[in-house]
Amino acid sequence: MLILGLESSCDDCSAAVVEETAAGPVLRSLVRESQDAIHGPFGGVVPELAAREHLLQVRAVMAAALAQAGVGLTGLDRIAVTRGPGLVGSLLATFSASKAAAWRHGLPWVGVHHLLGHLNAARFAAPDLPFPALVLLVSGGHTHLYLAKDWTSLQLLQKTRDDAAGEAFDKTARMLNLGYPGGPVVDACAQAAPRTAEPFTPPKFRDGKASWSFSGLKTGVKLRVERNPRLAEAGAADPEVQGLCRSLQEAISTWLLKPLPALAQEHSARSLVISGGVACNSRLRSEAARLAARAGLRLAIPEPRLCTDNGAMIAAAGALLTPEGDPWIQNADADLKL
Ligand code: KG4
Ligand code: ZN
Repeated sequence: MLILGLESSCDDCSAAVVEETAAGPVLRSLVRESQDAIHGPFGGVVPELAAREHLLQVRAVMAAALAQAGVGLTGLDRIAVTRGPGLVGSLLATFSASKAAAWRHGLPWVGVHHLLGHLNAARFAAPDLPFPALVLLVSGGHTHLYLAKDWTSLQLLQKTRDDAAGEAFDKTARMLNLGYPGGPVVDACAQAAPRTAEPFTPPKFRDGKASWSFSGLKTGVKLRVERNPRLAEAGAADPEVQGLCRSLQEAISTWLLKPLPALAQEHSARSLVISGGVACNSRLRSEAARLAARAGLRLAIPEPRLCTDNGAMIAAAGALLTPEGDPWIQNADADLKL
C-alpha cells in the first residue's frame, strides 16, 4: 500500500510517500519546507504568517514528495493528513489540498491525530515493538506521557503542569539571542560546553507526585542573564553560554526521564517510545538509552528527521486507520481530542 502523508499543523509543511509492507512502513520520500527564517525574527511561530506560508508551499511540497518517490497521485492507494490538533490556519493548507487530491482521483482519505503520528514515527525503526509501551511526546507544544496498547491508541498518564519542554529550550535560546528554534542550537552549545554551569533546582510539588514543570527554568535562565547581562550578547561560542545550555539540557532530560521507571513498572510497560521535536536532543537520547537498559525496556526513538513534525509519521499512522467515507464533509480540528 502506497500512502501520501501530509502535515502542516504548526510551522513545518511536509509531505512523504510511505509504503506499508508486511514488515512495516518503508519511507519512499520525505520533503519538508521549514519556515524558521520567517518566524525566527519573532522568536516563535506567528500563526497568521505560518498559514499564509503553508498555502504557498503545499503544492510544491506535495509534488516534490511524489516526484522523489517516482509516483503520481493516481499511483497512490491512500492519502493521510493531519486533522488536528494544531493551528487551524496552518492545518487547513494540507487538509484542503488532501481533500481536493482525494476527490480528483477517487482516493481513500484518512484524517490523523497529530500525536498518533508522532507515535507512529517510531514504527519505521521498530515495527515489532512490544506493547504496552510508555510514550513520551515532547515538543514545542507537548510534554505528555501516554500508555499505548498498540500503534493506534494513546491513553494519557500525565502531562506538564505548565510549559512544554520545547518551550524551555526555545525561550532560553531567545534570552541568550541564539536564534530560533532554540532546541538544536542549545543542544549544540551544550555539547560544546567545557563544563556545566550551576545546576537548576528541580521543582517540588506540594502533592508529592513525580510530575513535570518547566516554567521555573525560564525564570531561572532570566535571573542568570539579569545577574550576568553579558550572556545575552556573548553568543554560541562563549564557554559560559555553553555551560548554561548544558545545565539546562541536563535538567530537562533528567527531569523528563525521572518518573518513567516507576510508571513503567506500574503499567507493566515493555517498551518506551520518545518522539516529538525534543526527542532530537542528544542528551535525552543517550540518557533514555541508559534508562531503558537499566529498566529492561525496549527503546524506540525515531531518527531525528522523523521526531520533528513530518508527513511520514502521518502516512505511517494513516496506514493503520480506516479511511473515512466522504472527504468533503471532513473538517480540521484545532483542538482534536484523542
Ligand atoms: O515536534 P516539533 O517539530 O513541533 C511541535 O509540534 O512543537 O517540535 C519542535 C520543538 C521546538 O521546541 C524545538 O526547539 C525542539 O522541538 N527541538 C529540540 C531539538 N530539536 C528540536 N529540543 C531539544 N534538542 C534538540 N536537538
Ligand atoms: Zn508535533
